[in-house]
Amino acid sequence: MKNNLSNIKKAIKYLNNNECIGIPTETVYGLAANAYSDKATRKIFNLKKRPKKNPLIVHYYSLNDLKKDCVLDLNFFKLYKKFCPGPISFVLKLKNDSCISENVTNKKKTIAIRFPSHKLTRSLLKILEFPLAAPSANLSKQISPVSKSDVIEEFGKKIKFTLDGGQSKIGVESTIVSLIGKPKILRLGGIERNSIEKVFIKNKKLKHIKKNIVVPGQGKVHYSPGIPIRLNIRKPKKQEAFILIKKRKYSKKNFYYLSKKNNLKEAAKNLYKTLRKIKKKKFKSIAIEKIPNIGFGETINDRLIRASK
Ligand code: TXA
Ligand code: MG
Repeated sequence: MKNNLSNIKKAIKYLNNNECIGIPTETVYGLAANAYSDKATRKIFNLKKRPKKNPLIVHYYSLNDLKKDCVLDLNFFKLYKKFCPGPISFVLKLKNDSCISENVTNKKKTIAIRFPSHKLTRSLLKILEFPLAAPSANLSKQISPVSKSDVIEEFGKKIKFTLDGGQSKIGVESTIVSLIGKPKILRLGGIERNSIEKVFIKNKKLKHIKKNIVVPGQGKVHYSPGIPIRLNIRKPKKQEAFILIKKRKYSKKNFYYLSKKNNLKEAAKNLYKTLRKIKKKKFKSIAIEKIPNIGFGETINDRLIRASK
């Protein structure tokens, strides 16, 4: 804890100075900067080589902090009560007098926000006098990082500091729910679609959350390990890495298992770590067995389809 405290102090110093740093969250590591500062948030886009039109998610400690920037409604409070802090992001209306930098929202009147549950980052947010804009801490289109060493692999010395919070427990990005108009899921992620839909089930008007997933700026090519990926494969080629969910009785050198117990949540957690591991070996391509399109399987398939484009 002593060590954590001195690292949190370091993090605060950098952030107060308009620098970007790596921060752990339960989903993936973020590249964080003061969301109220034009100078700091501009650096995020430059470091990531991210198109300016792709808005950022802002991370808050408490409802009180959030209230300064966003308009909140009943649907928000329902979801907040059930899932926050945790791996869910909301798209909300931005208040007119909010101090959020225009870089964050791409000058729009809506904003994506979330309350990360990672203890270290919560301690950091609690002390800071501003919320943190933080996209995943990877170069644009690459695999999201789930540990401090992944962040260093992406940026090397280009960022001065990353807070070490161990391996991300969820391992895939937050689920994004838009509460502008009828609630819709914009990106599948760390909370299953089903659990979110259940919150609205009593309210007839909101029964159907739109099934199509449309996140502006979330390009088709994403999470790329840099070699071809083939989906729904039964038998891999010789020089191919083979990713499987279920542990088999026999194993080969090129076999990578996402789960010990055939569990889709555990598989999602291990997905990016496994893709990164394979990327470092000399495989020509990656084959992946068919993954059931339910629960976290839906999130895994979403990411794999993008990675295979
Ligand atoms: O788990 C996560 O959400 C991680 C951690 C670091 O918090 N962050 C993350 O950020 O995944 P990023 O930038 O990699 O993805 C954010 C997505 C982008 O696809 C962006 O287009 C979308 O959120 N987004 C941001 N603001 C939006 C808005 N106002 N309306 C719709 N989509 C928005
Ligand atoms: Mg990302």
